[in-house]
Amino acid sequence: MLAIAAMFAACKEEKIDDQMTSGQNKKWWKEAIVYQIYPRSFKDSNGDGIGDLRGIIDQIDYLKGLGITAIWLNPIYSSPNADNGYDVSDYRNIHQDFGDLQTFDSLLVKLHEAGIKLIMDIVVNHSSDEHEWFKQSRSSRDNPYRDYYHWWPAEKGKPAHRYSLFDASGEAWKYDTLTNAYYLHYFADKQPDLNWENPKLRQEVYDIMKFWAEKGVDGFRLDAFQFAAKDTTFPELPGDLDTNFIKYYAMQEGIHTYLKEMYDQVLSKYDVLSVAEGAGRNFEDAHLLVDEERNELNMAYAFDAVDIAKPHGYDLVHLKSVFSKWDKEFESKGWISIFLSNHDQARLVSRYGNDSEEYRALSTKMLNTFLLSMRGTPYTYYGDELGMTNIRFNTIEEYNDISAINGYKKVMNNGGDLQKYLEVLKFGSRDNGRTPMQWTSNQNADFTTGTPWLKINPNHSYINVAEQDKDSTSILNHFRAMTQLRKSTEALVYGKYECLLPEHPKAFVYTRSMPEQSTLVMLNFSKEQVNLSFPALKRADKVLINNTNGLSYKRDSITLTPYQAIIFSLK
Ligand code: NOJ
Repeated sequence: MLAIAAMFAACKEEKIDDQMTSGQNKKWWKEAIVYQIYPRSFKDSNGDGIGDLRGIIDQIDYLKGLGITAIWLNPIYSSPNADNGYDVSDYRNIHQDFGDLQTFDSLLVKLHEAGIKLIMDIVVNHSSDEHEWFKQSRSSRDNPYRDYYHWWPAEKGKPAHRYSLFDASGEAWKYDTLTNAYYLHYFADKQPDLNWENPKLRQEVYDIMKFWAEKGVDGFRLDAFQFAAKDTTFPELPGDLDTNFIKYYAMQEGIHTYLKEMYDQVLSKYDVLSVAEGAGRNFEDAHLLVDEERNELNMAYAFDAVDIAKPHGYDLVHLKSVFSKWDKEFESKGWISIFLSNHDQARLVSRYGNDSEEYRALSTKMLNTFLLSMRGTPYTYYGDELGMTNIRFNTIEEYNDISAINGYKKVMNNGGDLQKYLEVLKFGSRDNGRTPMQWTSNQNADFTTGTPWLKINPNHSYINVAEQDKDSTSILNHFRAMTQLRKSTEALVYGKYECLLPEHPKAFVYTRSMPEQSTLVMLNFSKEQVNLSFPALKRADKVLINNTNGLSYKRDSITLTPYQAIIFSLK
């Protein structure tokens, strides 16, 4: 048993006036509970097998019932879909699979009527090669759009190697015969990188953002933006580039000039949330992005925590230390995002919990309790409110994701072990997190009346909204209870976070405290029972939420059952 009585007692007695929200003024985007919708997979309204905007409109009551306050939509613009919308061919139009601008306008009105805000995904590190800018740029060396992208004339020889995340060859320069030059693509060759050094390109981007802000959207998520600035002399980079690309690609000179310009021209003019994907190389980079007086962005999200889960498991002490470090760093300055899953990750419960029949429900509830009780804006990925799990495809043909498919080709080209790679994908492939939403146990989970664009997890027969809606003890209803609790408990948003047992290998225990309100969160991240030495909680201390119907504590100890999650209110 671990002794935490002393720490706990100290926490209850400590004067917390000076340790609460000082430096953290209140903002709607700090209080927001964001729900991420992968539009292709949420709800199909016209039977083409692809989720769409009308489908989202039809589910607004469901969204409202979740208690979330904002949705973030993955890209919905016109796109050839080389990377499911992260290759935009027209930033001012809606992809025909999803609907049209009129439907978008109606979605926005209806969301606002329901008290839900809308965050758009802005993909401007790169565009599609089918964007008019690139078509022009490619057509001749003296085309006015040539400098919208990065070109390297072949007569200068081969450019210095740049790593591509998605290209099967691993090379980010692609030779184009038309003008005898190479163009740069950090992602797939159909995603050429935009040249942010060009003020005309920057103005185009700000105008696009204004177009959406004028429509009334409530925020922007900036995709891969930490890579936007580049040293356009393209010097040779050290040999560890491919394995350490963030070190060389992220937050290069110029990035803050661009962000300040974006702030002056767009972000400062509207009451919008702004979040960068990627928080740079270190805390200093992250502060430079999000500290309020710098007038750049509201928050960023870092990958430190989502990178921890591995097929053989993960070390909870490490996970705690990551969350604690980020909290400490941004305690009084700047703001962070809290998440463990999104469209670039496999499913929450399959990576951080236990998706066996025995523990799936408990461990998902425990993880949702965690995500919704930390300081920072929480992001919930669609389906995680139900405990949707990895589908674990057996063959490469079942995958849709360019990163899985090109990764497979890469392994094949290098004579690697393809079977082993398929096993890796079963744990980590992004498609695990993109299978259609499981609404019912009916055919195709009532996601579509047609043929779904990606296979639906057969476990929709028992993991689905309809079943969980009826069951007051379901994961879904626990999620709803957690959003209500967060909204009614200011300490869960702004309160000081303190991790009480940083070295405990199975329990994550912390307090969230304000002068008037203190809470104690106790989470068992394991399938074993955990006994903690603990001072008796006063009778008046209330259990705010408990993912089981039992609670076992004596005068000086508390026992957490497998994956138990409890939040106490402390006097
Ligand atoms: C990050 C996005 O989250 C991911 O889905 C996408 O493939 C890359 N950026 C490229 O846009």
